[in-house]
Amino acid sequence: MKKYCMLDAHVYPDSDFHQEKEILEKAGYTFEIGNCRTAEEIIEFAKDAEVIGDVYLPITEEILSSLPNLKGVVRYGVGYDVVDVEACTRHHVYCCNQPDYCLEDVASLTLAMLLDLTRKVTFFDRSCRRGEWNVAYGYPPHRLSELTLGLIGFGNIARTTYHMIKPLGCRIIAYDPFLPDTVFAENGCERVSLEELYACADVISVHVPHTPSTYHLIDDKAIAQMKDGVMLINTARGPIISQDALVAGCRSGKIAAAALDVVEKEPIHDVNHPLYECGNIIVTPHVAYNTVEAADALHCRCAETAVSIMNGEVPRTRVNMR
Ligand SMILES: NC(=O)c1ccc[n+]([C@@H]2O[C@H](COP(=O)([O-])OP(=O)(O)OC[C@H]3O[C@@H](n4cnc5c(N)ncnc54)[C@H](O)[C@@H]3O)[C@@H](O)[C@H]2O)c1
Repeated sequence: MKKYCMLDAHVYPDSDFHQEKEILEKAGYTFEIGNCRTAEEIIEFAKDAEVIGDVYLPITEEILSSLPNLKGVVRYGVGYDVVDVEACTRHHVYCCNQPDYCLEDVASLTLAMLLDLTRKVTFFDRSCRRGEWNVAYGYPPHRLSELTLGLIGFGNIARTTYHMIKPLGCRIIAYDPFLPDTVFAENGCERVSLEELYACADVISVHVPHTPSTYHLIDDKAIAQMKDGVMLINTARGPIISQDALVAGCRSGKIAAAALDVVEKEPIHDVNHPLYECGNIIVTPHVAYNTVEAADALHCRCAETAVSIMNGEVPRTRVNMR
């Protein structure tokens, strides 16, 4: 019987994968859950799989060439930088992501970070707990309606974020060189160049995928072009912002504060990590996608994608052609 193997279930300790079990059983296919951590374990566990599900394990040429029945890789998430998509294509394997299961969820964490940075909720709380009770603690707060928010990337999450934040009254500008003008016009968003965005934005939020061309997109040179006292939000991928440049900017005061849901090297367990030593950085452990509703949608859609591939259909959310 055709089989769907979910490789790294331990990433979701709270999940019983009942959505996958029900959907696969109804379709007449087998579903197995693994706790793989290495390429060898994947190859052994998924040796007769038609489809594999993956959260964070790198899916490499070695793995793809060792799974003879494989027709699809289903990535549990939006980004698919852990999958070697070109190797998938060479091996006639679909790579599928789930592009729209958590748009509202990532947008709402971005909004929470915008409010937190501009009104300093976390920073005041840290200060109060040190016994300070200092209304002037840190950088000066400003009205949202006086601020300019710059979105780098204007894809699904950035557009959802735009519509969620727009009613709060700030000016919002966006940079995305790959979209036609009509996308900006239809959404009523002001399109700018990256240079304009750096020059004008009080808060910059990153919403591009991690690719070779976006690696360290924000480095020392980029930060030097930004306004003094800029605030940065990253809910996309850690390596898009150079950690060294960010820490240097936060230490010098060039960057007033930063909120990061993603960091260059995840996870962080070191309590003395350079990001934690900067008092003006907020870190969350890559949770922007994570709400009960988004998790349910993710499990269902991954299972439906696996069924679609095993049915011999062209899956809706493929990022390559076989
Ligand atoms: N933290 C989380 O939990 C979480 C959850 C979901 C997604 N993400 C990340 O958010 C990213 C964005 O998601 P999305 O759904 O909006 O993706 P999307 O594909 O809809 O949009 C990405 C946009 O970035 C643009 N882009 C690509 N390279 C660019 C560049 N160099 N400069 C400017 N724009 C560029 C593309 O044209 C596209 O419009 C994902 O790739 C993923 O890495 C994080």
